[in-house]
Amino acid sequence: MSTIDRNTSNYLYQQVTGFISDQILAGVLRPGDRLPSLRHLSKRLSISVPTVRQAYVELERQGRVESRPQSGFYVRQQARNALMKPASCRNCKPAPVRCRSLIDRVYEGIHTPGVVPFGIANPSMAKPAAKGLNRAMKRIMGRAEERSIGYAPSDGEPALRRQIAYRYLELGGRVEPDEVVVTNGGQEALTLALMAVAEKGDVIAVETPTYHGALELIESLGMLALEIETCPEEGLMLCSLQDAIRRHDIKACLFASSLNNPLGSATPDEHRQELVALLEAHDIPLIEDDVYGDLMFDGSRPSPARFYSDKGLVLTAGSFSKTVAPGYRVGWLLAGRFEQRVRTLKRAFSCSCGLLQQMTLSEYLASGEYDRHIRALRPVLKCNAERMAALIGQHFPQETRVSRPQGGSVLWLELPRTVDGGRLFDRALEENISTCPGMLYSPTRRYRNFMRLSFGHPWSDEIEAAIHRLGQMVRSD
Ligand SMILES: Cc1ncc(COP(=O)(O)O)c(C=O)c1O
Repeated sequence: MSTIDRNTSNYLYQQVTGFISDQILAGVLRPGDRLPSLRHLSKRLSISVPTVRQAYVELERQGRVESRPQSGFYVRQQARNALMKPASCRNCKPAPVRCRSLIDRVYEGIHTPGVVPFGIANPSMAKPAAKGLNRAMKRIMGRAEERSIGYAPSDGEPALRRQIAYRYLELGGRVEPDEVVVTNGGQEALTLALMAVAEKGDVIAVETPTYHGALELIESLGMLALEIETCPEEGLMLCSLQDAIRRHDIKACLFASSLNNPLGSATPDEHRQELVALLEAHDIPLIEDDVYGDLMFDGSRPSPARFYSDKGLVLTAGSFSKTVAPGYRVGWLLAGRFEQRVRTLKRAFSCSCGLLQQMTLSEYLASGEYDRHIRALRPVLKCNAERMAALIGQHFPQETRVSRPQGGSVLWLELPRTVDGGRLFDRALEENISTCPGMLYSPTRRYRNFMRLSFGHPWSDEIEAAIHRLGQMVRSD
């Protein structure tokens, strides 16, 4: 079997754990199936029996398999329920967003010391890049100490803009460094994009569920949000969008079609191509929130929708927050035909972004460390997702449904109908567990019995205990 690679830094038992997990996820091993015997697998893989046992014990700890005395190890019976298809949006109307007060409470929780941080999507913390960035920053300080404390050009540090453009080239698309506007994180990129294409009172189509920060932004700008059905597996549903275009005067769309937050679903490349064709046929700008695109578990990278644009109506927002350093606040925007307006807005609102952070990131990218870091981060996130889903299967009520993310760092849970997400959020926070209540992810607050949990942290006993405790709270709600 080619599964064992003796040249990687992963322990042999971890490789066996990964192999069996993949077989379970792919349905090759089904609930109730017996795993190969220790002796049999050790022979097949040419590794020792204790190594296979260690892998099986780890799988048991993760809640994926159970040992039966005198019999062996078996795939656990309680298979996770997949999320249901989304409720129809046919009767949805553009709605003002009113989520700010609830978001205030979530943010309070996130930043309280000692809180278990399930409420914040912070994937890079699962395998922090701090050491590599530190080295890069020291090199910059050694080479350009004085320059690095000055103002950066308003559009961004040229070396970083070149690195960002180069990454698009590697993906097979052409982006000139001059087109890149460096922003204070992805959030400022979304702000500038929305302000460039729409005004107060305009209708912005969003996926449902959608990232609460995008909704809060729409609220702050006085725009209206219109929900478009989004499928847990396939992402945005084009037929729903087509229908909405017929019924409403949509000014722009804001979609995270490369990887939806909170579903973790990716819209396939062909659909994204059709999406751009549909929107450009109606002259509707698409703001694509692509901050998670580098974090697909299988290493594939969805092509940005911008690659399919003929008319320059696609604006792409990216960020280094999810991949390496949220605190650096460095993102970017490619604004297509809205470039000039975006540049003016950027200068007027925030002048420029931190130069030292930009220089450090540019050095980090140029040295190849960014790519190495991402390659190491993805499997950690995938493993965390599987562990957390398995624990939820063990501790939450049977009816709980859980997303199967293709990447990123969050799980989206549909809890039994009787559960009140707001109440659960408060109870959990009282016990120092931060979560995100589902209501935040829809302008019409349709996800009352849903919850988003982040798995973007180093795994620990504390995380496991908190999932166990949350499960007890859900059962007693
Ligand atoms: C989907 C999505 N878009 C944009 C952002 C904002 O990213 P940044 O931290 O770079 O501002 C986030 C952050 O949580 C996000 O989840």
